[in-house]
Amino acid sequence: MLSSRVLNVMGLPQLGHLDPGFVKTYSEALELTKYLFQSREGLPYILTGSGTLMMEAVVVSLIEPDDRVLVVDTGHFGERFGTIAGIHGARVDFVKPELGRSPSFQEIDAKLSCADYKALFVTHVDTATGVVNSVADMASAARRHGVLTIVDSVCGVGAIELLFDQWGIDVALTGSQKAIAAPPGLSLAVVSKKALDVMSNRKTPIRSYYMDLLRWRKVMENPSVYVATPAVNLIVALKEALSELREEGLERRLLRHRIIADGIRAGIEALGFKIVAEQGCRANTVTAFYVPDKKAGELHARLKSQFNIQLAKGLYEYRDLMLRVGHFGTISANDAVSFVAALEVASNDLGLASKRGAVEEALRCLEQLKP
Ligand SMILES: Cc1ncc(COP(=O)(O)O)c(C=O)c1O
Repeated sequence: MLSSRVLNVMGLPQLGHLDPGFVKTYSEALELTKYLFQSREGLPYILTGSGTLMMEAVVVSLIEPDDRVLVVDTGHFGERFGTIAGIHGARVDFVKPELGRSPSFQEIDAKLSCADYKALFVTHVDTATGVVNSVADMASAARRHGVLTIVDSVCGVGAIELLFDQWGIDVALTGSQKAIAAPPGLSLAVVSKKALDVMSNRKTPIRSYYMDLLRWRKVMENPSVYVATPAVNLIVALKEALSELREEGLERRLLRHRIIADGIRAGIEALGFKIVAEQGCRANTVTAFYVPDKKAGELHARLKSQFNIQLAKGLYEYRDLMLRVGHFGTISANDAVSFVAALEVASNDLGLASKRGAVEEALRCLEQLKP
């Protein structure tokens, strides 16, 4: 959902992409991107195009044909990173734990010892499964082996801790539409000096015009430079959403997401549903849970028609087997209670749960959230 502040700025008169007012807004949004990723050292990027555009831009700019890369696959989006790297000529190996698990430091460390990898690709939170990976541990394993760490935090940063400089990450990226709570259509990243040097010292040219991060570097250092027209209105909205995030402060924002996630998980489990992610790797942004008897579609439809609550179905083979609830961005304790209450009523009506008391369980967690 978008806040009223974000919606309001989207109704302002159109600015040109080189209008000084817009250039200032773009610069401020870039500065706020550094705050978002907790980086003083890295170069922030905001590009027009969804999260996948930045995933591909990072691959195209950093990886050369025949480079070996290791991809942590904890759901659909890890696999996507591997596919993109493969399309651009990389030799791709995967670490693929059982569904719902996240690999340990030791597993990644052992795998990185097996070959001369250039980069490790990690999905911070795989939105397909709700599994959160320990990026700090994985980046530390990568550093031990002199391997670049590239993090897809589309469903993480802004709601779950990500310390770019402190953890020694080389690229972290996200999309505008999830935890930042801006409209879809933009992708954001921070790129380390080391990663920029690797791009500059390639043996082969970057084989893309629009996705060449070195070409865009001059815009990110000075947004009055033109490479291609940015989505002006989206960047105005993004800057507003990032300002709201800055005002709330990351510490409070992360705590709000943690408490709300605890409340939602408590409600789901009180009804007897099994959460896909194991204890210890459950994301505070999205929760996937199994629905018995292949009735995910029915429950999904009932929540929408009766309560106007929109969940996501499982991806691909899990379409009928699981549902996913997003709890990030503008989410409040009231939203969480409404969801749990609706889930309790709908799942009892459909005979998918025979328990009550989910709201009370959720409230026990949510009362920690001070107004
Ligand atoms: C973890 C993750 N990575 C990448 C993407 C792709 O982002 P987009 O759909 O903005 O291209 C998504 C989208 O949901 C995602 O959840």
